[in-house]
Amino acid sequence: MKITRTISGARRLCKATAGPIVLVPTMGALHAGHEALCRQARRIAGPNGFVVVSIFVNPTQFGPNEDLAKYPRTFDADRARCAAAGVDLIFHPSAAEMYPADFSTFVDETAVSSLLCGASRPGHFRGVCTVVLKLFSIIAPDVAVFGEKDFQQCAVIGRMVRDLDLPIRLRTIPTVRESDGLALSSRNRYLTPEERAQAPTLRRALLEAKAAFRAGETRAAQLRKRILKIVSTAPLARIDYVEVAHSQSLQPVRLADRATVIALAVFFGKTRLIDNILLK
Ligand code: PAF
Repeated sequence: MKITRTISGARRLCKATAGPIVLVPTMGALHAGHEALCRQARRIAGPNGFVVVSIFVNPTQFGPNEDLAKYPRTFDADRARCAAAGVDLIFHPSAAEMYPADFSTFVDETAVSSLLCGASRPGHFRGVCTVVLKLFSIIAPDVAVFGEKDFQQCAVIGRMVRDLDLPIRLRTIPTVRESDGLALSSRNRYLTPEERAQAPTLRRALLEAKAAFRAGETRAAQLRKRILKIVSTAPLARIDYVEVAHSQSLQPVRLADRATVIALAVFFGKTRLIDNILLK
């Protein structure tokens, strides 16, 4: 497995490969969910392909009061996980390498980005799209693999790829969870033991809403109400949003159907957790 910190190094190594290039963009602090992304990338790439993992805590997707400075940086452990998952190259640039002092070009997706997390975190998806487009330009992958936990991110990047005619196929993999249902996230490590004990309520609420839908409840307001009720049983939970929306446009719906996603963001202390469930 090779490691490079420079854009020129990454370009050179990627250009030298004959097989398909599969990219897994990450911000590091890798966990079993990322490992599943890397293994999927390895399967897609096949024995002759080239699997690239980018590890870059992207400053432009953090708001002024968010956790950029304390975001976990665990490069040695990340390197070991990548090696175990069959990764060929880690691209681990510095912020200065990615964003020279006079950097002034950003990518704005203006529809899907404005809802849900985009409404709570203004500028977040602008930062995500900008860095992902840069990664696509540097690595030139045939395929990029993302996790469904970041459902909106997948939708926004899908829109960017379509709108800008990028010759890249996107693949997603299901959310990897702890045994009690909590979606794996690099931010779970911020939770206190009490918050951690209450955090699986989110998954429970989403599953109960899906069960209600299957039992015939299609009114979005009622599904939302059920979720709010269950989440409110966790005294440390503070809801940012719960939305019942179309799974591609992410526009809120009045009546749920099989194309509906329910997505939520909930604070436990300062830690903001997201999760979602597709009703299909
Ligand atoms: O999902 C993430 O870890 C980040 O948003 C991404 C896609 C690597 C861009 O920084």
